[in-house]
Amino acid sequence: MQTKEHLLTYKTISEEQVAEAKALAVSLVKENLKDFTCKFPDSNSRNQFYPQTENVEWTTGFWTGEIWLAYEETGDEALKKAGEIQVDSFMDRIVNRVDVDHHDMGFLYSPSCVAAYQLTGSQTAKEAALKAADNLMGRFHEKGQFFQAWGTLGAHDNYRLIIDCLLNMPLLFWASEVTGKEAYREKALAHITTAMQNIIRPDCSTYHTYFFDPETGVPLRGVTHQGNRDGSAWARGQAWGIYGSAMAYRYLKNPEYIEVFEKVTAYFLDHLPKDLIPYWDFDFDDGSDEPRDSSSAAIAVCGMLEMAKYLPEDKAAYYTDMAKRLMLALWEHCAVKAAKESNGLLLHGTYARDSVNNPCNDRGVDECNTWGDYYYLEGLVRLSRDWKTYW
Ligand code: GLY
Repeated sequence: MQTKEHLLTYKTISEEQVAEAKALAVSLVKENLKDFTCKFPDSNSRNQFYPQTENVEWTTGFWTGEIWLAYEETGDEALKKAGEIQVDSFMDRIVNRVDVDHHDMGFLYSPSCVAAYQLTGSQTAKEAALKAADNLMGRFHEKGQFFQAWGTLGAHDNYRLIIDCLLNMPLLFWASEVTGKEAYREKALAHITTAMQNIIRPDCSTYHTYFFDPETGVPLRGVTHQGNRDGSAWARGQAWGIYGSAMAYRYLKNPEYIEVFEKVTAYFLDHLPKDLIPYWDFDFDDGSDEPRDSSSAAIAVCGMLEMAKYLPEDKAAYYTDMAKRLMLALWEHCAVKAAKESNGLLLHGTYARDSVNNPCNDRGVDECNTWGDYYYLEGLVRLSRDWKTYW
């Protein structure tokens, strides 16, 4: 646990440290292109090294996003070429419907194809991202007003949303902007409204998933999938709430989202352990042997830096400095410092942790994961300049 006063005593990362960390991360991305251009890194490393995988799961877009971030930083044509090869793979994936029967179209297509379209004007990227947005639209339920995360559409045992989906919504706002069609934006707004009404508890912690009645759409109950228990705060879920509310504000400018952001961020910061690297669930604190999830801190950094753009000066400075404190902790305790250590960027993540109260098996425990790597680099880029988001 932390108090606000104590958090203010932590050092912030300096401009020189940001520059050093970013240059190192970009050089590691370039180094890893040899293994991950026609293939992708798996969702998490094994003994700190990612094996190759095909373009499957919800996680491959993060690696392509790292390539685009590194390309923006360097202008290196080899990175551009690799990014374009991966965009072709994302087009192939959506056209042939390879592992796309779920809601994670934003995680897959924003950092890969929306980024490519923004940076290179690629029409393939634009078309692939629009197809992905249309695919996501097919998962919207009028009864309940939300996008179903996983499983067969309408199935009783999967009639739910999950907090992570807030980061899939920017793809729909982008689709609305480029096509002029309001429907994408309207459904995103409806989903965000439903999510915010149900997943935030009175103490500002969050549910991971929330079930609705398929017949009536009435909200039923919050249940965890990757957290320690239904009533606990899964650290990454709380971080998706931070970045998700900031993104909702970016596109919709509803002042209520600032309130949501401040509440979920305060809960996250208050529950950090002494070294500021979150345990995988906030049920655990200093002294516990449970693993950390560094990726949740990287996501929170990006969320705080995004929201700081829209806040009055004093609040913007507060969240920017908090982001810099978390980034210093990541740099000091989790950053990969040499290619021989790992082919990722950020150590000490946890994809899923077995608990008697969740259905997960241990997976990617104390390992790198692709989203942790991506948000770490995005956070460094955000700290070094005014960055045009891919989200
Ligand atoms: N979106 C799934 C996860 O955060 O593990």
